[in-house]
Amino acid sequence: MPPSFDVRLDDLTGARAESREAAQDSDSILAGPPSELGVNKSPTRHSPAKAARRAGSQHHGDGAWSTHPVLGDERTFYIETFGCQMNVHDSEKVAGVLLGRGYQQVETVDAAKLVFYNTCSIREKAAQKVFSRLGEFRKHPDHGKVIGVLGCVAQQEGLAQLEAGNRRVTGLDTDTDETFETEMTRRDNPFRAYLTIIEGCDKSCSYCVVPYTRGPERSRSSASVLEEVRKLAGAGYSEIQLLGQTVNSYRDPAPRGKTFAELLVTVAAVPGIRRVRFTTSHPRDFGRDIVEAIDSVPALCDHVHLPVQSGSTRVLRAMQRTYTREEYLEKIALIRSARRPISVTSDIIVGFPGETEQDVAETLSLLDAAQYDGVFAFQYSPRPNTASLQMGDSIPEEEKGRRLAIVQDRQREIQVARNNELVGQTFEVLVDGASRRPGQWTGRSSSNRILNFSSPHSDLLGQYIQVRATGASPNSLVGEQII
Ligand code: 5AD
Ligand code: SF4
Repeated sequence: MPPSFDVRLDDLTGARAESREAAQDSDSILAGPPSELGVNKSPTRHSPAKAARRAGSQHHGDGAWSTHPVLGDERTFYIETFGCQMNVHDSEKVAGVLLGRGYQQVETVDAAKLVFYNTCSIREKAAQKVFSRLGEFRKHPDHGKVIGVLGCVAQQEGLAQLEAGNRRVTGLDTDTDETFETEMTRRDNPFRAYLTIIEGCDKSCSYCVVPYTRGPERSRSSASVLEEVRKLAGAGYSEIQLLGQTVNSYRDPAPRGKTFAELLVTVAAVPGIRRVRFTTSHPRDFGRDIVEAIDSVPALCDHVHLPVQSGSTRVLRAMQRTYTREEYLEKIALIRSARRPISVTSDIIVGFPGETEQDVAETLSLLDAAQYDGVFAFQYSPRPNTASLQMGDSIPEEEKGRRLAIVQDRQREIQVARNNELVGQTFEVLVDGASRRPGQWTGRSSSNRILNFSSPHSDLLGQYIQVRATGASPNSLVGEQII
């Protein structure tokens, strides 16, 4: 996923909430910053309308699959994405390549000949989703479609388990070095472009499958990153989000290459770029230079997603997070020492093997100390291959649920208080949505807060405008455009 403070226009209009959180993982909460992986809680269905708009310039003639015996002439595909922003971006790449080969993107499984699920195996629940989708196909063996499973589950669980009907597509792993260089990425959001600068992870958090599914850390050269940013700016994108599981561990492979902070500054200086975000930062590699860069370059967004996972040093050690509670809080202090306020969000896991009441209390007190603007909280989920698998799963699910609710409640109170303090302030908002209710819009501030606001103007999409906050809820602000 994209960082979100979660509550979108529908809260205002009274229509069904379409928050990114709503659709998936019930164990995640509230405010939706990107998680460590940039969790995007709801499956993303790529919009054919947008796809069609971009398709024209990306048509590269016949593709390798045109003679596939199953496909015939029906060159239509559907893609559904689960999990993190990196997954969303991988799907954009797959869609881009297919569109470039003359395929048409459709919005329903029914209308598609090729059906792709881009999966996530970070937690059991996420992995289960694709199995339930595939189960539907088994019920209708004559569906005549080609089903493809991409991403982490495909790697983690083995495609043998994923056979759907009697046809399947394998070998569509997007997790290769060449991923960086995909020419024809078809980006979903018309204003914000995602760009992976570092793939994989060299950390070894004991609960995490990512080092197994995404492999070791590989950074993209800063020259190549900048070239793409220039292209994106030329294509009209004004906001860039740099992605990586541990984005701030970026190491330019070029001789005398840029540090991560230097890369941020250089990307922000590309003409046409008004906002640069990055996610997800690992506390250990988070240094003063990043804060100084944000302080001195207004285009660098004032938001850092810095997952803590637990407030207890004992649990952090068992998680192999490589920092103590105190060291983490020093990073928070560093961020709070900036000249402009920087919004901080986090991820938390409750119910890690052996977690005690005292550990939970320490997590709660860390919430108080850190004063996050958003938290994703998760129930611990044992994953294959991980070190913590050997530690058992000692906390019963019901108790995990109780701890999750406690953490969420505390964080909600913190957000209510923090957001209330923002009422009356003015935010520059990039407008990225219109409500069904005339005159109502939604957008994000540099700090990635969602503002649902009224304006007498039309055609605001993609514009940067000034909005005064007039009201607050735990996960968003309401406001009005300053004319
Ligand atoms: N169980 C529960 N939560 C997990 N996360 C990663 N692995 C697990 C797991 N095995 C959470 C962490 C991470 C986010 C992407 O998902 O909080 O930051
Ligand atoms: Fe993040 Fe740790 Fe997983 Fe790496 S191993 S992706 S640092 S949670």
